[in-house]
Amino acid sequence: MLSAISKEEFLFLVKKYYDILTVALLFSIGVAFFVSKLAWRKVTGSRGHIPGRLGLPFIGETISFMSATNSTRGCYDFIRFRRIWYGKWFKTRIFGKIHVFVPSTEGAKMIFSNDFAKFNKGYVKSMADCIGDKSLLCVPHENHKRIRRLLSDPFSMNSLSSFIEKFDRMLCQKLKKLEQGGKSFSVLDFSMRMTFDAMCCMLMSVMDEPLLRQLEKDCTAVSDGILSVPVMIPGTRYYKGIKCTLRELLTLQARRRLMETFKDMIARRRSGKELPEPEDFLQSMLRRDSYPPNEKLQDSEIMDNLMTLIIAGQTTTSAAMMWSVKFLDENQQVQDILREEQLSIATSKPEGASITLEDINNMSYCWKVVKETVRMSTVVMWYPRVALSDCFEIKKGWHVNIDATCIHNDPDLYPDPTKFNPSRFDEIQKPYSFIPFGSGPRTCLGINMAKMTMMIFLHRLTTAYRWTVDDLDTSLEKKAHIPRLRSGCPITLTARPCK
Ligand code: HEM
Repeated sequence: MLSAISKEEFLFLVKKYYDILTVALLFSIGVAFFVSKLAWRKVTGSRGHIPGRLGLPFIGETISFMSATNSTRGCYDFIRFRRIWYGKWFKTRIFGKIHVFVPSTEGAKMIFSNDFAKFNKGYVKSMADCIGDKSLLCVPHENHKRIRRLLSDPFSMNSLSSFIEKFDRMLCQKLKKLEQGGKSFSVLDFSMRMTFDAMCCMLMSVMDEPLLRQLEKDCTAVSDGILSVPVMIPGTRYYKGIKCTLRELLTLQARRRLMETFKDMIARRRSGKELPEPEDFLQSMLRRDSYPPNEKLQDSEIMDNLMTLIIAGQTTTSAAMMWSVKFLDENQQVQDILREEQLSIATSKPEGASITLEDINNMSYCWKVVKETVRMSTVVMWYPRVALSDCFEIKKGWHVNIDATCIHNDPDLYPDPTKFNPSRFDEIQKPYSFIPFGSGPRTCLGINMAKMTMMIFLHRLTTAYRWTVDDLDTSLEKKAHIPRLRSGCPITLTARPCK
């Protein structure tokens, strides 16, 4: 029939019915959009107000997440992109679990203040197999309260003061050796070793080099085992009950060896063969042997938490130390102010004297440098919880992650957030806007130890040395759960002339 209409007649009809045609076209586009949205909702399961894409059952967005984890931009890229697409909070599905990323101080308050009541840590059974079911990270609420209360005292600033001198001496010797060697070294490798040795010294007075290295090897195997992604993939024993993979076997062997070493150590202490002076963490736990059951820890609780403390403390503090060196190198003006403060403390003391708790309390700018470092690096990127019941739009069983990285980079909370500016901490922070150590009942137990070790490190580094960063590459380590430079931030030290 169309062929029967001439071109002029067709154009005439289009002109005459232009409005109707336009409305019809817009209407069909609208219908198509609506139908596709319904279909999309069906696929994604998105019914509530939280935007995001759940994708196919189980797989969800696992592949995108894994590819971000395997890139040198770091796994946070996965979140960064979704935030651009969906706005502030969003949901996704990773390894079969629905995750909601919560990026606001209000959200952080809601979750932190309902920890244990409405939310709990969402660890899998494999984690308890590795770190131990008496670990602070795994125990239920009542036990957590008791264990945490009993563990806390040795981590107060006052108790730690007896450890300051030991740490300071260890650090000075190691830095001097590196400077005298004159070679470039990785700050990350250095700080990993340094913090591990410091933890073992403070917790158990272990200073013997071969024992330290064996403990370090085993703790690293356990730590890798806890965080290895394959434990969550169907096909591993946690899903199918099949035999251990090689990695799982190595992890369990490492855990067994560590437990044997701790058991021997406890037995020697009880027999009176080894009594450390000053009292270390282990001894302060054993001192309670004759106390009522509620006022002491069982041996299994002591041992699981020794390992927890070492693992929780080493990677976090060492990454933060590495970032502080990097940020200070990029911000010479901040470095100069910090050095000036530290030199004024150093010059007020007799030559060769150790740092004291009083000195640390006088390092106000240094503390701001540490705070700005942990804000900008946010070494624990988000804090995972599982909803124990329906809560607003969040359904029971969903994983809820407090997105500390987003909060720490929110320009409304931190103007010019990518600028390394310790002086921003001259002002008091809004509640829940500075959460690098978490908040609520699970706040970092080692915050004072982290503060103290980082401040002594910065004191010695700035007063005795200058440094050059030997690799400016900013790529991040692949497959890392903590953002760290792939290069490890290699530097070369040169001694500053004496005062
Ligand atoms: C810069 C260094 C550190 C940072 C940034 C850091 C960060 C954190 C954060 C964010 C949490 C809470 C996680 C959550 O709520 O899910 C945490 C918990 C914890 N941290 Fe740290 N930490 C550091 C150093 C240390 C050190 C040195 C130790 C040990 C001496 C330690 C031991 C722990 C323990 C045992 C927990 C679990 C507390 C609980 O569940 O009750 N941390 N840390």
